[in-house]
Amino acid sequence: MAISTQQPLDSLRVADDALWTEGAPHDVFRRLRRECPVHWSSGISQSPADAGFWSVTTAELIHEVSRDWETYSSAQNIILTDHAVPLELIQGMFIGMDPPKHDRIKALFQRGFTPKAIARHEEKILEITTRVLDTVADRETCDLVSDVAQPVVARVIGSFMGLSPEDDIPWATAINTLLGFGDPDLNPKGIEQLVAEDVPMLFERCMTLVAERRANPTDDLLSTLIFAEVDGDQLTDVEIFAGFVLLMAAGNDSTKATYTSCMRALMENPDERQKLIDDPSLVPSAVEEALRMFPAFAHFRRTATKETTLGGCPIHAGDKVALWYPSSNRDESVYSDPDRFDVTRNPEHQAFGAGGRHFCLGTALARLELRILVAETVRRFPRMAIDGAPTWVLSQFSSQLKSLPVRLHT
Ligand code: HEM
Repeated sequence: MAISTQQPLDSLRVADDALWTEGAPHDVFRRLRRECPVHWSSGISQSPADAGFWSVTTAELIHEVSRDWETYSSAQNIILTDHAVPLELIQGMFIGMDPPKHDRIKALFQRGFTPKAIARHEEKILEITTRVLDTVADRETCDLVSDVAQPVVARVIGSFMGLSPEDDIPWATAINTLLGFGDPDLNPKGIEQLVAEDVPMLFERCMTLVAERRANPTDDLLSTLIFAEVDGDQLTDVEIFAGFVLLMAAGNDSTKATYTSCMRALMENPDERQKLIDDPSLVPSAVEEALRMFPAFAHFRRTATKETTLGGCPIHAGDKVALWYPSSNRDESVYSDPDRFDVTRNPEHQAFGAGGRHFCLGTALARLELRILVAETVRRFPRMAIDGAPTWVLSQFSSQLKSLPVRLHT
């Protein structure tokens, strides 16, 4: 890590794997915020075919870019590397589109995310969480990522979408591969094979569910999507499938990542955990603090559509611009003592994006799920302790732990 803090800024390459073996490189970001908040990296070591890119690291500048979709487009790609996930897949999802198409499709999806629609799931989420925590309750140890977080988040999003439990594992495996594309453990067979083999299978399964619901509407999100209408417009089958993939991707890894990071921080900061035990009404604030300190997505990318300047730097049409949320969420000009985990802070943050057209659609669902998961875990396992070194997914996009071994009762 010392290399990155002393290295000349013009040879520093922010997305190189060497900096990301233990999650986001906070010392690099601290330096960039101070010395060079809009920074040019000449390339990405593990993906030599990729062009260089700009890194944006302060909250104010990320806000500026996020709100200006005409200058900073999402339609070229949403991740830094152009050589991992097929572009057609990304551009088929509304997160990879610009207005007006983006707005038309997002409006149809919004029907399924009203506060009423989300609140209906509270009991179900609690039931799923309780059932999964029951499966580990009598054990001495478990892995919080694979034994608790993964089965809970997969079933919550699965039931929200209308999938049956047998579909949880195939979907979760496909999504973990897709988002963890840079990690050989998560992506052993390569994305090309995933796209060739698994995506057609998942499309078929999704279309069977669509056909069933066209014949007999149900009250899940898939039915909402099939029948949603804005100005006489309905989603096509391909748009439904692309949206399905987007929601499964957004719903699986993001909540899993935030929950496990939150639990790790609580175990590493027993005084903060004690505050939650003494006063469970602090759980929502603790969840916001975990979202701030450990944003599940390390970046989303935009691509400049014209010549412009950002933070005094000349940006050219076609340049890639990475919005690094682990950096903006620890911006010293916004937060005092930003590296301290403080369950009473209840901060505003950019984990869900920094405003603008692509602001996360799933915030209410994510918050509800995280609050239940954290509250129930702390209530039932108040003395849980870390039991071995946690490991990170090697990814500049999906920022999450791969394993978090814990001792359940100490
Ligand atoms: C801790 C949980 C989550 C985090 C940290 C998170 C974060 C984000 C971020 C950073 C963006 C992009 C914002 C931008 O580019 O300006 C986003 C977009 C999105 N998120 Fe989430 N998300 C979470 C959970 C969810 C859930 C549970 C769902 C739905 C099931 C969801 C659905 C979406 C969708 C559909 C978009 C695309 C919105 C658009 O392009 O207009 N997210 N999310």
